[in-house]
Amino acid sequence: MLEQQSGNLIATNISKHFGGVRAVDDLSFEIPPGIVCGLIGPNGSGKTTTLNLITGTLQLTSGTVRYNGQQINGLKRHEIVRRGISRTFQNLRLFSSLSALDHVILGRYIHCKTPLIPSLLGVRSAVKEDTEAEEKARHYLNMVGLSGYEDVVPHELPYGKRKLLEVARALSTEAACLCLDEPAAGMSEGEIDSLINLIGQLKKQGITIMLIEHRMTLVMTVCDRIVVLNYGKKIAEGDPQTVSNDPLVIQAYLGRRRGGRTQ
Ligand SMILES: Nc1ncnc2c1ncn2[C@@H]1O[C@H](COP(=O)(O)OP(=O)(O)OP(=O)(O)O)[C@@H](O)[C@H]1O
Ligand SMILES: [Mg+2]
Repeated sequence: MLEQQSGNLIATNISKHFGGVRAVDDLSFEIPPGIVCGLIGPNGSGKTTTLNLITGTLQLTSGTVRYNGQQINGLKRHEIVRRGISRTFQNLRLFSSLSALDHVILGRYIHCKTPLIPSLLGVRSAVKEDTEAEEKARHYLNMVGLSGYEDVVPHELPYGKRKLLEVARALSTEAACLCLDEPAAGMSEGEIDSLINLIGQLKKQGITIMLIEHRMTLVMTVCDRIVVLNYGKKIAEGDPQTVSNDPLVIQAYLGRRRGGRTQ
C-alpha cells in the first residue's frame, strides 16, 4: 500500500556544471505518474548527474525540479525521500556489517523519528518494538526475490542480488517514484528477467520509475518512454521504437563505440 501520492516529475532547463564540464546542459523532461521512463545515453552523457540533481545528491547550477507540483530542488536528500522519491546507486552503497533485512528496515526508518546513528548501531534493538517495520522489510525482500536471504550480509550475496537489495531498500521508503541507476549492471539473464517482472509489478502499483540503463533488452521491454542524453543534452525523446530508430541516437552510440567522444 503506497503512502505517497504518485505524481508528475518535471525537470525544467536543469543544468549542472563542474568547472568547464557541462555534465547536464539545459535539460527538460516530464515523467507522468505511473510511467516507466528510461534515461539512456553513452558513458559520461549525464545520466547519473541528472538523477543526483533530482534526488538532492547534487544541487543544480540552474533550472528547477518539481514533483507533485512542488519545487523540490534545494531540499535536502531526506526531505526529497519524504516527498516520495527514492533511488538506488550506480555504485552500491551497502553496509558490510548489516544483514539484508537490516538494510531494508533502516531504509524504512526515513519515515520515523528514530535518529539514524542509533539505528545503525543496533537496528534490531532500535526497532524491536516495531514488528511492522520488520514485516514490511520482509515483504520488500520477498518482492525483489530475496526471500531467504534476510540474515545474509551484502558481501555474501552475488552482485546482481546486491543490486536487488538496493531496490528493496529504496522501496522500503514507500516511494511513489523510484530512480534506478543501472540496476541490471552485473545481473545474469535470469536476474534481468526477474527485474523485468518486478518493474512490471511496480508499474501496476502506480509507481513512477526513472530507469537509467545500458542493457537495451531491459530498456526496450519495460520503458513507456525514453529520454536520450548526449554530452548532457537531450537528443531524443519518445517511445522505445521511435527512439531506437532515431538517427541522432544511433550516431551518438556508434560515435562513442568507434573510440571516444566525437564532437
Ligand atoms: N563530481 C564531479 N566532478 C566533476 N565532473 C563530474 C562529476 N560527476 C560527473 N562528472 C562528469 O560529468 C559528466 C557526466 O557524468 P555522469 O556520471 O553523469 O555520466 P553517466 O551518463 O552517468 O555515465 P555512465 O554511463 O558511465 O554512468 C562526465 O563527463 C563526468 O566525468
Ligand atoms: Mg552513471
